[in-house]
Amino acid sequence: MFKNIRHRLLLSYLLILALILGIFSLGIRLIFAYNLRQQLIEKLTALGQGAAANTEWEHNQLKIDDDFKLRELLNNQQSLQWFDVKGNSILKQGEFISSLPLSPDDLVQIKPGNPNIQSITLPIIDSDISQLIGYVRVSQSLEELEETLTKLDWGLGISIIVALSISGIGGILLTNQAMKPIEESFQRLKQFTADASHELRNPLMVIDSNVAVSLKYSEGMRKTDQESFEAIASATEQMINLTEDLLILARSDQINLIKKETVNLVIILEKLVKLYQPKIEAKKLNFKLKLSETIWMSGDSLKLERLFSNLIDNAIYYTSESGVIEIQGKQKKSSIEIQIKDTGIGISAENLERIFERFWRADTSRSYWNGGSGLGLAIVKAIVKHHGGTITVTSQLGIGSCFTISLPIN
Ligand SMILES: Nc1ncnc2c1ncn2[C@@H]1O[C@H](COP(=O)(O)OP(=O)(O)O)[C@@H](O)[C@H]1O
Ligand SMILES: [Mg+2]
Repeated sequence: MFKNIRHRLLLSYLLILALILGIFSLGIRLIFAYNLRQQLIEKLTALGQGAAANTEWEHNQLKIDDDFKLRELLNNQQSLQWFDVKGNSILKQGEFISSLPLSPDDLVQIKPGNPNIQSITLPIIDSDISQLIGYVRVSQSLEELEETLTKLDWGLGISIIVALSISGIGGILLTNQAMKPIEESFQRLKQFTADASHELRNPLMVIDSNVAVSLKYSEGMRKTDQESFEAIASATEQMINLTEDLLILARSDQINLIKKETVNLVIILEKLVKLYQPKIEAKKLNFKLKLSETIWMSGDSLKLERLFSNLIDNAIYYTSESGVIEIQGKQKKSSIEIQIKDTGIGISAENLERIFERFWRADTSRSYWNGGSGLGLAIVKAIVKHHGGTITVTSQLGIGSCFTISLPIN
């Protein structure tokens, strides 16, 4: 149980940390990419302004002083393009020329490709005549910028993985430390329950035997006194069962208390059916026992007896008169499978998950005098778990339930 909590705690801790680191890295990535692009746009704008200044308006025509440093353009993976007012290309310089048509409305453009090309278009205004005389478009390959961003992504990714690994190790140490006192107090609580149940057993036995003796010689007793004694006897029996159940559950985690012996489940089941015969007959139940000849396994016979008696007890209790109860058992290669099916009141889907909880019962109004205390299935589950097996249940309200237990042979 604590292992499970520990894993869940560690997992949620790492998930939250991963989420925080992820958001943080995404923020850094976005800001960094935005700044890089902004810087590039500023650089290209400055270059474009220089190129625009190098043009003149002569004889109603755009004239470009063609002395731009081509080598520098090539080195920087840049290019320049001049257009007339109508958007016709007049001159190009450099590689990485954006082939997008000139669009005066969309001055900052990216042309997707390999590599992507960022371009900025600037209008050229002749200062003498204050008139638009053309456009200049500056472009630059985004290869370098994208390389920088890829490096940043790798850096962030690796940092996140390293941070998570280190936090994981730290988290294991921390959860161990945090769980230790909880585990200890849980163990103390269990020990207390075990001790208290054990100590209660003796006085209960004294009451039980004395009441039994009194009831045996009840001739001179008033009728009301006899009824009181019967009520005491019934309550005492109930309390003895309850303390026994509590003791079993409190000790259920101590695996060394499980005996390993070779048992034939057929004998156990047949013995239990014989034991419950009066109840079966009283309710006129149709009881079917379908077992293979022998079902051998290694386990604790007393605990296994308890397991099946709890299930049979429930099946009988929760099935109304003339219902059908069927027990099937078969030996498989490395496991055995026992099924206990009834045509009883059934369990609703939302309650199915809860029936194995301690003290949980569907009908809370049912008094303790009539039967169990809601610990029966919790004990069943603990015994199955300690034998390394599994228990599953399918049920439908008003139709019946089917408990399937699978236990390893060894
Ligand atoms: N065969 C069954 N058919 C219908 N309901 C069942 C059956 N077995 C168990 N339940 C439900 O599960 C609850 C828990 O069972 P259990 O732990 O044995 O407690 P108890 O029998 O003492 O009430 C029961 O109160 C009942 O509501
Ligand atoms: Mg029960």
